[in-house]
Amino acid sequence: MFFVANWKMFGRPSYYKILEKINRYIVRHKKNKSLNIVACVPNTLITLYSNKLKKTLIKVGAQNCSEFQNDGPYTGSVSGKMIKDAGAKYVIIGHSESREQGDTDKIIKNKIESAFKAGLQIIFCFGETLSEKNKKKTKQIIRNQIRKAITNKKFLKKILFAYEPVWSIGSNKIPKITELNYIIRDIKKFVKYTYKNNKKIKVLYGGSVNSLNIEKLKLINQIDGYLVGGASQSSKKFIDILKNYYK
Ligand code: PGA
Repeated sequence: MFFVANWKMFGRPSYYKILEKINRYIVRHKKNKSLNIVACVPNTLITLYSNKLKKTLIKVGAQNCSEFQNDGPYTGSVSGKMIKDAGAKYVIIGHSESREQGDTDKIIKNKIESAFKAGLQIIFCFGETLSEKNKKKTKQIIRNQIRKAITNKKFLKKILFAYEPVWSIGSNKIPKITELNYIIRDIKKFVKYTYKNNKKIKVLYGGSVNSLNIEKLKLINQIDGYLVGGASQSSKKFIDILKNYYK
Protein backbone atom coordinates (compact mmCIF):
# COMPACT_ATOMS: atom_id res chain seq x y z
CA MET A 1 0.00 0.00 0.00
CA PHE A 2 1.36 3.39 -1.01
CA PHE A 3 0.71 6.69 0.68
CA VAL A 4 2.42 9.39 -1.35
CA ALA A 5 2.67 12.92 -0.01
CA ASN A 6 2.77 15.60 -2.67
CA TRP A 7 3.88 18.76 -0.93
CA LYS A 8 3.65 20.90 -4.08
CA MET A 9 5.30 24.32 -3.61
CA PHE A 10 5.49 23.99 0.15
CA GLY A 11 8.34 23.19 2.51
CA ARG A 12 11.39 24.60 4.28
CA PRO A 13 14.25 22.73 5.93
CA SER A 14 12.54 22.94 9.34
CA TYR A 15 9.35 21.31 8.02
CA TYR A 16 11.18 18.03 8.31
CA LYS A 17 9.39 17.77 11.64
CA ILE A 18 6.21 16.87 9.74
CA LEU A 19 7.86 13.76 8.33
CA GLU A 20 9.57 13.02 11.62
CA LYS A 21 6.18 12.87 13.34
CA ILE A 22 4.73 10.66 10.63
CA ASN A 23 7.69 8.34 10.95
CA ARG A 24 7.33 8.21 14.72
CA TYR A 25 3.70 7.24 14.28
CA ILE A 26 4.56 4.43 11.88
CA VAL A 27 7.29 3.07 14.13
CA ARG A 28 5.12 3.29 17.23
CA HIS A 29 2.28 1.47 15.57
CA LYS A 30 4.55 -0.98 13.80
CA LYS A 31 2.59 -0.63 10.64
CA ASN A 32 2.98 -3.63 8.45
CA LYS A 33 5.91 -3.94 6.10
CA SER A 34 3.76 -3.53 3.01
CA LEU A 35 3.23 0.13 3.87
CA ASN A 36 5.19 2.46 1.57
CA ILE A 37 5.38 6.12 2.36
CA VAL A 38 6.87 8.50 -0.17
CA ALA A 39 7.35 12.20 0.48
CA CYS A 40 7.52 14.17 -2.75
CA VAL A 41 9.08 17.42 -1.66
CA PRO A 42 10.52 20.44 -3.49
CA ASN A 43 13.96 19.80 -5.02
CA THR A 44 15.58 22.11 -2.46
CA LEU A 45 14.81 19.61 0.31
CA ILE A 46 15.61 16.29 -1.36
CA THR A 47 19.17 15.87 -0.12
CA LEU A 48 18.55 17.12 3.39
CA TYR A 49 15.44 15.01 3.91
CA SER A 50 16.73 11.86 2.25
CA ASN A 51 19.77 11.95 4.54
CA LYS A 52 17.62 12.43 7.61
CA LEU A 53 15.16 9.72 6.55
CA LYS A 54 17.78 7.13 5.65
CA LYS A 55 16.93 4.72 8.43
CA THR A 56 13.18 5.17 8.23
CA LEU A 57 10.35 3.74 6.17
CA ILE A 58 9.81 7.03 4.36
CA LYS A 59 11.32 7.46 0.90
CA VAL A 60 11.88 10.80 -0.75
CA GLY A 61 10.61 11.78 -4.16
CA ALA A 62 10.65 14.82 -6.45
CA GLN A 63 7.61 16.40 -8.09
CA ASN A 64 8.90 16.73 -11.64
CA CYS A 65 12.02 16.47 -13.75
CA SER A 66 13.30 17.76 -17.07
CA GLU A 67 12.48 15.93 -20.27
CA PHE A 68 16.17 16.16 -21.18
CA GLN A 69 18.44 13.40 -20.02
CA ASN A 70 21.82 15.06 -20.35
CA ASP A 71 23.29 18.28 -19.03
CA GLY A 72 22.80 21.21 -21.36
CA PRO A 73 21.56 24.76 -21.89
CA TYR A 74 18.23 24.35 -20.09
CA THR A 75 18.16 27.16 -17.56
CA GLY A 76 16.11 26.36 -14.49
CA SER A 77 15.78 22.66 -15.32
CA VAL A 78 16.79 19.67 -13.23
CA SER A 79 17.26 16.26 -14.83
CA GLY A 80 16.14 12.89 -13.54
CA LYS A 81 19.77 11.96 -12.95
CA MET A 82 20.32 15.08 -10.82
CA ILE A 83 17.25 14.26 -8.76
CA LYS A 84 18.48 10.72 -8.29
CA ASP A 85 21.94 11.96 -7.27
CA ALA A 86 20.29 14.30 -4.79
CA GLY A 87 18.73 11.31 -3.04
CA ALA A 88 15.26 10.93 -4.55
CA LYS A 89 13.95 7.46 -5.26
CA TYR A 90 10.69 8.59 -6.86
CA VAL A 91 9.47 11.34 -9.15
CA ILE A 92 5.97 12.54 -9.97
CA ILE A 93 5.43 13.01 -13.70
CA GLY A 94 2.39 14.33 -15.53
CA HIS A 95 0.67 16.01 -12.60
CA SER A 96 -2.19 18.17 -13.84
CA GLU A 97 -0.54 21.24 -12.31
CA SER A 98 2.56 20.53 -14.45
CA ARG A 99 0.37 19.87 -17.48
CA GLU A 100 -1.21 23.27 -16.87
CA GLN A 101 2.27 24.80 -16.92
CA GLY A 102 2.97 23.34 -20.34
CA ASP A 103 3.63 19.62 -20.07
CA THR A 104 2.19 17.96 -23.18
CA ASP A 105 1.77 14.22 -23.68
CA LYS A 106 4.98 14.25 -25.69
CA ILE A 107 6.96 16.05 -22.99
CA ILE A 108 5.54 13.64 -20.41
CA LYS A 109 6.60 10.71 -22.57
CA ASN A 110 10.15 12.12 -22.68
CA LYS A 111 10.13 12.73 -18.94
CA ILE A 112 9.12 9.15 -18.28
CA GLU A 113 11.96 7.93 -20.43
CA SER A 114 14.44 10.25 -18.67
CA ALA A 115 13.29 9.23 -15.22
CA PHE A 116 13.43 5.58 -16.18
CA LYS A 117 16.99 5.94 -17.46
CA ALA A 118 17.92 7.71 -14.23
CA GLY A 119 16.65 4.73 -12.25
CA LEU A 120 13.78 6.54 -10.56
CA GLN A 121 10.41 5.08 -9.67
CA ILE A 122 7.81 7.06 -11.57
CA ILE A 123 4.50 8.22 -10.16
CA PHE A 124 2.67 8.88 -13.40
CA CYS A 125 -0.40 11.11 -13.01
CA PHE A 126 -3.29 11.44 -15.38
CA GLY A 127 -7.00 12.23 -15.24
CA GLU A 128 -9.86 14.05 -16.87
CA THR A 129 -11.09 17.61 -16.43
CA LEU A 130 -14.61 18.41 -15.29
CA SER A 131 -15.80 19.24 -18.79
CA GLU A 132 -14.36 15.98 -20.13
CA LYS A 133 -16.13 14.12 -17.34
CA ASN A 134 -19.41 15.87 -18.13
CA LYS A 135 -19.03 14.84 -21.74
CA LYS A 136 -18.54 11.25 -20.54
CA LYS A 137 -15.06 11.14 -21.98
CA THR A 138 -13.23 10.01 -18.86
CA LYS A 139 -12.27 6.55 -20.04
CA GLN A 140 -11.14 7.75 -23.44
CA ILE A 141 -9.06 10.62 -22.02
CA ILE A 142 -7.34 8.40 -19.50
CA ARG A 143 -6.55 5.71 -22.06
CA ASN A 144 -5.10 8.32 -24.42
CA GLN A 145 -2.97 9.89 -21.72
CA ILE A 146 -1.55 6.50 -20.80
CA ARG A 147 -0.98 5.36 -24.37
CA LYS A 148 0.81 8.57 -25.35
CA ALA A 149 3.01 8.73 -22.28
CA ILE A 150 4.14 5.13 -22.06
CA THR A 151 5.62 4.01 -25.33
CA ASN A 152 7.61 1.05 -24.18
CA LYS A 153 6.49 -1.86 -22.07
CA LYS A 154 9.80 -1.90 -20.21
CA PHE A 155 8.86 1.35 -18.44
CA LEU A 156 5.95 -0.36 -16.71
CA LYS A 157 8.06 -1.98 -14.06
CA LYS A 158 9.08 1.44 -12.77
CA ILE A 159 5.66 3.06 -12.94
CA LEU A 160 3.02 3.65 -10.31
CA PHE A 161 -0.14 4.82 -12.03
CA ALA A 162 -1.88 7.68 -10.27
CA TYR A 163 -5.41 8.48 -11.34
CA GLU A 164 -6.13 12.07 -10.39
CA PRO A 165 -9.29 13.61 -11.82
CA VAL A 166 -8.36 17.27 -12.33
CA TRP A 167 -11.67 18.42 -10.84
CA SER A 168 -11.01 16.56 -7.62
CA ILE A 169 -7.62 18.11 -6.89
CA GLY A 170 -7.83 20.59 -4.03
CA SER A 171 -11.60 20.79 -4.39
CA ASN A 172 -12.79 18.53 -1.58
CA LYS A 173 -14.64 16.46 -4.15
CA ILE A 174 -13.98 12.83 -4.91
CA PRO A 175 -15.55 10.57 -7.54
CA LYS A 176 -18.43 8.29 -6.64
CA ILE A 177 -17.08 5.04 -5.29
CA THR A 178 -18.76 2.97 -8.00
CA GLU A 179 -17.31 5.21 -10.73
CA LEU A 180 -13.87 5.11 -9.21
CA ASN A 181 -13.97 1.36 -8.88
CA TYR A 182 -14.89 1.08 -12.53
CA ILE A 183 -12.16 3.45 -13.69
CA ILE A 184 -9.40 1.78 -11.67
CA ARG A 185 -10.41 -1.59 -13.07
CA ASP A 186 -10.44 -0.17 -16.57
CA ILE A 187 -6.92 1.25 -16.16
CA LYS A 188 -5.63 -2.17 -15.06
CA LYS A 189 -7.38 -3.92 -17.91
CA PHE A 190 -6.24 -1.37 -20.47
CA VAL A 191 -2.58 -1.58 -19.43
CA LYS A 192 -2.72 -5.36 -19.42
CA TYR A 193 -4.05 -5.57 -22.96
CA THR A 194 -2.29 -2.60 -24.54
CA TYR A 195 1.17 -3.63 -23.41
CA LYS A 196 0.51 -7.36 -23.24
CA ASN A 197 1.60 -7.09 -19.66
CA ASN A 198 0.88 -9.92 -17.27
CA LYS A 199 2.48 -8.38 -14.21
CA LYS A 200 0.23 -6.61 -11.74
CA ILE A 201 0.41 -2.85 -11.95
CA LYS A 202 -0.26 -0.48 -9.08
CA VAL A 203 -2.89 2.20 -9.41
CA LEU A 204 -3.15 4.99 -6.86
CA TYR A 205 -5.95 7.47 -6.45
CA GLY A 206 -5.31 11.16 -5.82
CA GLY A 207 -7.57 14.18 -5.37
CA SER A 208 -8.82 15.62 -2.07
CA VAL A 209 -7.95 12.52 -0.06
CA ASN A 210 -8.55 13.21 3.62
CA SER A 211 -9.14 11.38 6.89
CA LEU A 212 -12.91 11.29 6.34
CA ASN A 213 -13.21 10.15 2.75
CA ILE A 214 -10.44 7.55 3.20
CA GLU A 215 -13.07 5.46 5.00
CA LYS A 216 -15.02 5.23 1.76
CA LEU A 217 -12.03 5.05 -0.54
CA LYS A 218 -10.52 2.13 1.32
CA LEU A 219 -13.51 -0.01 0.35
CA ILE A 220 -12.17 -0.14 -3.21
CA ASN A 221 -9.78 -3.02 -3.04
CA GLN A 222 -8.40 -2.35 -6.53
CA ILE A 223 -6.74 0.84 -5.24
CA ASP A 224 -3.09 0.28 -4.35
CA GLY A 225 -2.52 3.57 -2.63
CA TYR A 226 -3.17 7.29 -2.46
CA LEU A 227 -1.55 10.49 -3.57
CA VAL A 228 -2.21 13.10 -0.92
CA GLY A 229 -1.68 16.81 -1.60
CA GLY A 230 -3.07 19.37 0.82
CA ALA A 231 -3.54 16.92 3.69
CA SER A 232 0.11 15.83 3.50
CA GLN A 233 1.31 19.25 4.57
CA SER A 234 0.20 18.53 8.13
CA SER A 235 1.47 15.58 10.14
CA LYS A 236 -1.85 15.31 11.97
CA LYS A 237 -3.95 15.19 8.82
CA PHE A 238 -1.65 12.66 7.19
CA ILE A 239 -1.50 10.45 10.29
CA ASP A 240 -5.30 10.62 10.61
CA ILE A 241 -5.55 9.26 7.07
CA LEU A 242 -3.29 6.35 8.02
CA LYS A 243 -5.21 5.78 11.25
CA ASN A 244 -8.56 5.64 9.51
CA TYR A 245 -7.25 3.51 6.71
CA TYR A 246 -5.89 0.87 9.07
CA LYS A 247 -8.55 0.91 11.74
P1 PGA B 1 -5.04 17.35 -3.06
O1 PGA B 1 -3.89 17.21 -4.17
O2 PGA B 1 -4.93 16.17 -2.16
O3 PGA B 1 -4.73 18.63 -2.36
O4 PGA B 1 -6.34 17.37 -3.78
C1 PGA B 1 -3.60 15.98 -4.75
C2 PGA B 1 -2.49 16.14 -5.72
O5 PGA B 1 -2.36 17.21 -6.32
O6 PGA B 1 -1.69 15.21 -5.93
